[in-house]
Amino acid sequence: MANVYESMSNAQLDEAIRELEEQAEQIRARGLLLDMARGKPSPEQTDLSRSMLDLLGSNSELSDQGAPADNYGIPDGLPSARALAAELLGVSADNVIVNGSSSLNLMHDAVCNAYTHGIGGADPWCKQGEVKFLCPSPGYDRHFAVTARYGIVNVPIAMTADGPDMDEVERLVESDPTVKGIWCVPKYANPTGISYSNETVRRFARLKPAATDFRIFWDNAYIVHDLYDEGDELLNIFDALEEAGTTDLVYEFASTAKVTFPSSGMAFVTASANDIAELRRAFSIMRVSPEKLTQLMHVRFLPDVAAVRAHMAKHAAIVRPRFELVQQKLEEGLGGAGIATWTNPRGGYFVSFDGPDGSAKRIVSLMKELGVTLTGAGATWPYGKDPRDSNIRIAPTYPSLQQLGEALDVFVVAVRLVSARIAQEERQA
Ligand SMILES: Cc1ncc(COP(=O)(O)O)c(C=O)c1O
Repeated sequence: MANVYESMSNAQLDEAIRELEEQAEQIRARGLLLDMARGKPSPEQTDLSRSMLDLLGSNSELSDQGAPADNYGIPDGLPSARALAAELLGVSADNVIVNGSSSLNLMHDAVCNAYTHGIGGADPWCKQGEVKFLCPSPGYDRHFAVTARYGIVNVPIAMTADGPDMDEVERLVESDPTVKGIWCVPKYANPTGISYSNETVRRFARLKPAATDFRIFWDNAYIVHDLYDEGDELLNIFDALEEAGTTDLVYEFASTAKVTFPSSGMAFVTASANDIAELRRAFSIMRVSPEKLTQLMHVRFLPDVAAVRAHMAKHAAIVRPRFELVQQKLEEGLGGAGIATWTNPRGGYFVSFDGPDGSAKRIVSLMKELGVTLTGAGATWPYGKDPRDSNIRIAPTYPSLQQLGEALDVFVVAVRLVSARIAQEERQA
């Protein structure tokens, strides 16, 4: 599709820029203060779980299937919490640990353990010289920050509509023993919102890593976060591993962060019997015991997957109009202009937007001047370096519908103005 600004005559382009600058001035004068930066549930969403807080009181029975919730112990989590996590992930509860309130925290500790103590008898990563992690990009900035913190080299991998570029993943993982892991968000990926195809999941399960201590960090953060009754279907990676006859390859993580209360929920991890035993040993030193009162409240509120799904349908009713508003505003404001593309996810927390090359930093900074905070440009790439400087992550959940609509109207003007200026600069160069 032709770029509308590149197709204009010089005079038309000057006029278009003048009009857009005028619109930007009018927006600036309104003194807006809007935030479309982080993927947080809105207050309406967290309100959905308030009644959970009434399920534990001073007269409550503080045990679960005979396991005490009011004292130390039960390091793998309460039986009902492990059963719920296992049902959600489609794995055996024997291989599940429910501990802590943040899955990112568990991912960090798994990386840290591999770095300081090694995986499966291999030398710790810190004693192996330079080691690398593959980072499908655009991806989740906090993943990349964990590995970067340990000096692990983050290597970007292109994302396709089916998941990471598997030719590249296979080539690197199977030929280079310094590649130790890959960050994956297989369902409603952050930020593209795509779900991995069955073939992608199977190719992951069939990987033959050059390093015995390579692991896939399968962060299933958006496992139940569908916007529509029919969600994307993700193949169970542990079923695919069984089919492929592969073991000791995947750590899978998830949490109730965006089901109940972020930072006050339950986080869980599952892996093969060997791998989970190793993580259990590490966690027994890193942690004392899990937050079992939180777990008790959660399993009384959400006793099984059916209850989780019913609860998530309430979230979807709040979030879906916001995602639909993003599509509507972008289509109305930018559709057919040939300057931008964006994803249209059926779940998760983000929409991924691409403007012209060299536009993202300028759009984000212009938006800031106009009173709207966006996720920093480049944040979706390792080391904050988007090679095309084109990608912007839109997080529609937190603002109200009205604030979101206003922010998107500003966004359309900013994208158009920056794109027109880029077209003019290219002409003058
Ligand atoms: C892909 C992904 N994983 C993990 C998290 C954080 O989850 P938790 O609160 O369980 O650490 C987020 C939050 O935005 C996320 O997008």
